[in-house]
Amino acid sequence: MKAAVFGATGYTGRLVAAELFRRGVDTRLIGRDEKALSAIAGAQDVRAVSLNDPSSLVDALRGCDVVISCVAPFTRFGAPVVEAAIAAGCHYIDTAGEQRWVRRVYDEFGAKAAAAGVSLVPAATDDGIPGDLIAGLVAARLSEVDTLRVNHGLFDAGLSRGTMLAFREMAASPPLAWQDGEWRETDAGAREPADFPGDGEQPSWALPGPEVVSIQRHVRARTIDATMNADLAAGAASLTDEVIAAAPFGPPEDERRATRFTMIAEARAADGTTARGHVTGGDAYGSTAVIAVEAAVRLGARAAPVGAVPPSLAFDPTEFLDALKPHGITWQIGA
Ligand SMILES: NC(=O)c1ccc[n+]([C@@H]2O[C@H](COP(=O)([O-])OP(=O)(O)OC[C@H]3O[C@@H](n4cnc5c(N)ncnc54)[C@H](OP(=O)(O)O)[C@@H]3O)[C@@H](O)[C@H]2O)c1
Repeated sequence: MKAAVFGATGYTGRLVAAELFRRGVDTRLIGRDEKALSAIAGAQDVRAVSLNDPSSLVDALRGCDVVISCVAPFTRFGAPVVEAAIAAGCHYIDTAGEQRWVRRVYDEFGAKAAAAGVSLVPAATDDGIPGDLIAGLVAARLSEVDTLRVNHGLFDAGLSRGTMLAFREMAASPPLAWQDGEWRETDAGAREPADFPGDGEQPSWALPGPEVVSIQRHVRARTIDATMNADLAAGAASLTDEVIAAAPFGPPEDERRATRFTMIAEARAADGTTARGHVTGGDAYGSTAVIAVEAAVRLGARAAPVGAVPPSLAFDPTEFLDALKPHGITWQIGA
């Protein structure tokens, strides 16, 4: 299998490249700066391309089974990589957190990818894939689901500059929630507190969760939405242009490893019956690299459905979640 990383010089792209090398995957590093790409530890196959030159991008992806795009922000720079992947017949994964971008991948690129025999799995991150998988498993516990909510908890979080840019894009539009058969813009205000295992009850705010978009593709529910805890909300609220310009590339390694994340899925039936589960782990950016690479290896190794595919349909949910355990990511239903 041959994998490519687009945006390999970024904070997340470097972690993704390192994880591919650790797993012994033949890897091509792609970006706009050849010198910076060549300087990445383990780099052997590098391609410098411009997002404004579609044919060079397609050439760079030819011969690769799968590309992991780590560009920032996706809303502004994501499209040329998806288009090139479809043209090159290369499966596509990204590390996006931007809900509107994820919706665009499903709505705009899904049919083109299906026609080309390509699978697209956006939001292969510490929240996007665990949130989708645990929501599907929790929903399956009820005979019918009325409401499904995913609570994101990020603790002791240091954000990369790319994440800050993504948050700015996300703040430009209200969160989307699935309500009564259609996507609706919701207010970005407070929601009911969420009870995080080990961290207790936390105030919560509406979040444009990327997994809300993929869950709607495989779970029938009257409403599907997402919330975030106070740490994440405070990080997002503090981001001015000045703060972002002055921010370092990303948190240093010890701070990065100290972060923790929990994704809780809560489903409720119309008769009040509930089901609940969660996924929890540390090192949010390192875990994103592990999760994106696990998804890439699985897409590269066996036939998955084509088009834009929710993680729960692209992968076996329990098998995928169990594969994360050696990396300190655990999951539980009914707690
Ligand atoms: N849970 C989550 O939601 C989650 C977790 C991790 C990451 N992410 C997302 O992953 C993305 C990457 O984050 P990051 O922190 O790694 O960002 P970053 O450090 O800023 O890296 C961004 C990458 O995109 C490249 N890039 C930006 N604009 C470009 C352009 N016009 N042409 C070509 N390349 C361009 C950069 O290349 P140069 O190095 O040449 O500038 C760099 O390689 C973000 O969208 C972030 O939100 C999300």
